[in-house]
Amino acid sequence: MAAAVDNPLPIVVLISGRGSNLQSIIDSVAAGELPVEIRAVISNRPDVPGLQHASQAGIPTRVIDNSHYPDRAAFDAALQAAIDDYRPELVVLAGFMRILTSAFVRHYRGRMLNIHPSLLPEFPGLNTHQRVLDAGREETGATIHFVTEEIDGGPPILQARVPVLAGDDADSLAARVLEQEHRMYPVVIRWYAEGRVQLDTEGRVRLDDVPLERPRLQDSGAGAPC
Ligand code: GAR
Repeated sequence: MAAAVDNPLPIVVLISGRGSNLQSIIDSVAAGELPVEIRAVISNRPDVPGLQHASQAGIPTRVIDNSHYPDRAAFDAALQAAIDDYRPELVVLAGFMRILTSAFVRHYRGRMLNIHPSLLPEFPGLNTHQRVLDAGREETGATIHFVTEEIDGGPPILQARVPVLAGDDADSLAARVLEQEHRMYPVVIRWYAEGRVQLDTEGRVRLDDVPLERPRLQDSGAGAPC
């Protein structure tokens, strides 16, 4: 459903740690560039910096600590109940480092986005930047995609390409990719809030009613795709 400026799209953001992507979303909302209402930030880990970012912005926070649940299904059921308390129209995974059950993913089909620091389908999973370096790649990037049951495998919406430079280590590469991540998420969430991007019944991304053959590419300068 499209959100007008006076009718912001309700979202819930899930995090596991630092929350720098969350902060970029908060900043975009505060700047009037993103017509969403962040109804809650939910973390699966207590005491992480991202929860402080949320509190400082006056956003309600919840912790659903996965270590308190006997299995993945029980945790996901508790997480789903917590999310749905806030009645979001979109769930945004921003550094949420959990594998999700099929039932959970199906519940939010077409209503859940993830960001991953590689050019998916390359390098899904963990330790992305070190694996890119070990593979001798000259380029990496970041991807925003709809979440499906395949881990980091849902249809991509927007990618940014980032060069690997001589002398890079995993930290320097992560920092360069993160700069792009911070620009990307507000763009795609705005598209969603404006009703411009959807996951169609055939599992394809539609942007402005046209199925995407490949993800949109974010330019590497200051401008964002629109
Ligand atoms: C980001 O680089 C994000 O792409 C990555 O975790 C980091 C979270 O940083 N997510 C994944 O690897 C998911 N598979 P942040 O907490 O500062 O936003």
